[in-house]
Amino acid sequence: MTSLFPNDFVWGVATAAHQVEGNNTHSDFWLLEHTPGTVFAEPSGDACDHWHRYREDIALLADLGFRSYRLSIEWARIEPEEGCFSRAALDHYRRVLAACHERGVIPCVTFHHFTNPLWVTADGGWESAKTVDRFARYCERATRHLGDLIGRACTLNEANLPVTLAQSGVLPPGGLKQAPFVAEAARRCGSDLARFAPFLIADPYRTRDTMLAAHLHGRDAIRSGPGAFPVGVTLAMQDCQAVAGGEEKLAAMRRESFEPFLEAARADDFVGVQTYSRTRFGPAGVLPPEPGVPVLVMGYEYWPQALEGTIRYASDVSGVPIVVTENGIGTGDDAQRVAYYREALAALARCLESGIDVRGYYAWSLLDNYEWIHGYKPRFGLVSVDRETQQRTPKRSAQLLGEVARKNAFDAATFA
Ligand code: GCO
Repeated sequence: MTSLFPNDFVWGVATAAHQVEGNNTHSDFWLLEHTPGTVFAEPSGDACDHWHRYREDIALLADLGFRSYRLSIEWARIEPEEGCFSRAALDHYRRVLAACHERGVIPCVTFHHFTNPLWVTADGGWESAKTVDRFARYCERATRHLGDLIGRACTLNEANLPVTLAQSGVLPPGGLKQAPFVAEAARRCGSDLARFAPFLIADPYRTRDTMLAAHLHGRDAIRSGPGAFPVGVTLAMQDCQAVAGGEEKLAAMRRESFEPFLEAARADDFVGVQTYSRTRFGPAGVLPPEPGVPVLVMGYEYWPQALEGTIRYASDVSGVPIVVTENGIGTGDDAQRVAYYREALAALARCLESGIDVRGYYAWSLLDNYEWIHGYKPRFGLVSVDRETQQRTPKRSAQLLGEVARKNAFDAATFA
């Protein structure tokens, strides 16, 4: 059976600056990756050298059939020291966005994808109200330079992730600040543990509250600049399921992690749903993977149908249009990726058939890239990247998804 999508439905692929550009040396994550005792499996290094190879990468995704590219601009490059905005970095991103337009690709621009300029993190980071104003000022400055070329904007990527990880018991309640390498990283940049507050390391609940405010101020700053495009926030969403007696824990996850942002999104133009798997709750909290369900390299279940539950929930609570800003699988087996996308796109089609306003779908990711603390081991790319030569090789999943994008139609039978 073939599912057709609305005429203006947008098919794209996504990346993030720190994960693909390489040598993001003014960022807090660069320091964290290089501090002795770090939890990062390896440093990001050259990543996919997308900083230099963006033109080739944009041509590649356009040739595959995608009509949109979700990328992030890097605050640490644009404002490497407080108040010093790099005209050269902004011009670089103008060239990237122009390259998209030359290929008929709509740029979806994320203003913050996990990394901060080191000076921001050293001076309060996500635990300080100062970061709200600083983020809004950066958004204003970047939009003034780039707004006329932006097709859609996301303020913050997965602003709810730290609280989700805290509610799941993955992050301790106060965050990772007690890890010895964090104190050392703070010392190395002339900060101290009280002020040093990177994303995913800082207190999760203070991060949430600072990010909520930063989203609202950043959104207003972006809207007041040139260009007229939708603005929203993206959220890390698992399909949450309660198993006998787990209802309260599930409700707590929704109340603490999802609802604050979904309620704020009622005044946004859309909400970005990013789904990879499901989470089951029992009376004591998150349950381990269910026996019999394959477990992926990231430690969570292979559960492609999760996309349906998250789209429905996000739409119900926010009432605004949905864009799937990330969806994908980390696996070395591309046949498993093809099977994952077959189920995920079927879930997406069911949501559209039942009348939910979904505007677009972005696969994570264009390239095999730097997966944060996991280093380069998990492979989320539709395109593989030779770590020595940087040579790109599209996988079968890239061809199949590109064909869906070109035809604006999905036939599960071709994803066999
Ligand atoms: C996140 C990010 C991406 C990841 C992707 C795969 O969710 O952590 O938005 O940067 O690479 O989700 O884990």
